[in-house]
Amino acid sequence: MDAMEANQFREFGKTMIDYVANYLENIRDRRVLPTVEPGYLRPLIPSEAPQKPDSWKDVMDDIERVIMPGVTHWHSPKFHAYFPTANSYPAIVADILSDGIACIGFSWIASPACTELEVVMMDWLGKMIGLPEEFLACSGGKGGGVIQGTASEATLVALLGAKARAIHQVKKEHPDWRDADIAEKLVGYTSSQSHSSVERAGLLGGVKLRGLPTDDSNRLRGDTLEKAIKEDRDAGLIPFYAVATLGTTSSCTFDNLEEIGPVCNDNNVWLHIDAAYAGAAFVCPEYRYLMKGVEMADSFDFNPHKWMLVNFDCSAMWLKDPNWLVNAFNVDPLYLKHDQQGSAPDYRHWQIQLGRRFRSLKIWFVLRLYGVENIQKHIRKQIGLAHYFEKLVKSDERFEVTEEVLMGLVCFRLKNETNEVNERLLKRINARGTIHLVPSKIRDMYFLRMAVCSRLSEESDMEVTWKEVRESADDVLEKKVNGF
Ligand SMILES: Cc1ncc(COP(=O)(O)O)c(C=O)c1O
Repeated sequence: MDAMEANQFREFGKTMIDYVANYLENIRDRRVLPTVEPGYLRPLIPSEAPQKPDSWKDVMDDIERVIMPGVTHWHSPKFHAYFPTANSYPAIVADILSDGIACIGFSWIASPACTELEVVMMDWLGKMIGLPEEFLACSGGKGGGVIQGTASEATLVALLGAKARAIHQVKKEHPDWRDADIAEKLVGYTSSQSHSSVERAGLLGGVKLRGLPTDDSNRLRGDTLEKAIKEDRDAGLIPFYAVATLGTTSSCTFDNLEEIGPVCNDNNVWLHIDAAYAGAAFVCPEYRYLMKGVEMADSFDFNPHKWMLVNFDCSAMWLKDPNWLVNAFNVDPLYLKHDQQGSAPDYRHWQIQLGRRFRSLKIWFVLRLYGVENIQKHIRKQIGLAHYFEKLVKSDERFEVTEEVLMGLVCFRLKNETNEVNERLLKRINARGTIHLVPSKIRDMYFLRMAVCSRLSEESDMEVTWKEVRESADDVLEKKVNGF
């Protein structure tokens, strides 16, 4: 017996759509951080699965009772932690369709629409953000795009492609060297400010990865990279891979691609660009100066699931020559072969896992239902809100803004106060429970990060956030004076 007939699905589904719409429209009224303690959930539900089916209405009733008390409301305009994660109605509806079709698009024949829409959507997106033609499938060259689950996967996949390329090239010169001996000599580069997933890619890929120092503005510079490459070559190592970040996690800083690119190209080092958050801003031509030099990269990745209104998971990755991946990961058992092999990408070769969802549907729905113009408006509005908050912070002489505000992130701290006092400020803000922020630290300076995260955010939300920060500072500084 089916647990649910189509008519019940219609009712349940429509009820859920109403619930989600109400949840999102009224999300401001919820406390952004839950107050539950670890282990809160187990006592609220039975210790075993039911023998006989529950009704879907019982399940609906349990959402507010069991789930919502333990939800951190990432889409509340009062949530300013990390970076945004996208949420839009067109993307949610697309995921319903994807889940209805529920295909596993590992090869072209496994669902031709799944592969073909992905190829075209990656071209649409690439054109929207001004990527050079060589990255696009429509150029007719080798290049093309693929949807990865996350930016972390993209960094790892690019590293594995670079590793395969390096081993292949070294073997041409030294046919007697074993792969393992070559891999031991490989060395990659990134900056001390890159995301932790880059260091992790080095560990997972079994290669050395150096975190290089940045300049006073926290940017990785070409001469630093060049010096490191020379040192390593002199020590008998083989430089093969570099990751530049456009929009670092701590402070949304942009590495200097115009300097890094030629160093990589001259030294046969694969350049991967991690623009996980900030890449979405390149949909607005006025921000493309920050990606100058992108044509020198071998691969580029940004997350539409962060700032481009496409729900998680959707990380857009382009490669100038995907063959390095395809060849590196190509195992071809008989049950996955098909007659049209080679005429369209078999995306299983471009990624780590075999299975993949029909994720391009959500890009298609979002781009069609918003149009490029509204996506540009969204980005510009959120950057405008960050500048508004910056102005509020600067209006209070107790505070300083510690990094130039370029995107939707404002880094700030209590001026002339110790890290400890600033840590107390953050604790106080989060304990009040109205807004949620996370900190970061660069060169031993602790600061607070205010990211504009919700698509619903307005100036009035920035004012609420600023009031929380200001009043928390009053508390913390007053306690300091009173000797607490
Ligand atoms: C610069 C940068 N790279 C990578 C990541 C990791 O993204 P993902 O969760 O898609 O792996 C982040 C996350 O915030 C990031 O800011």
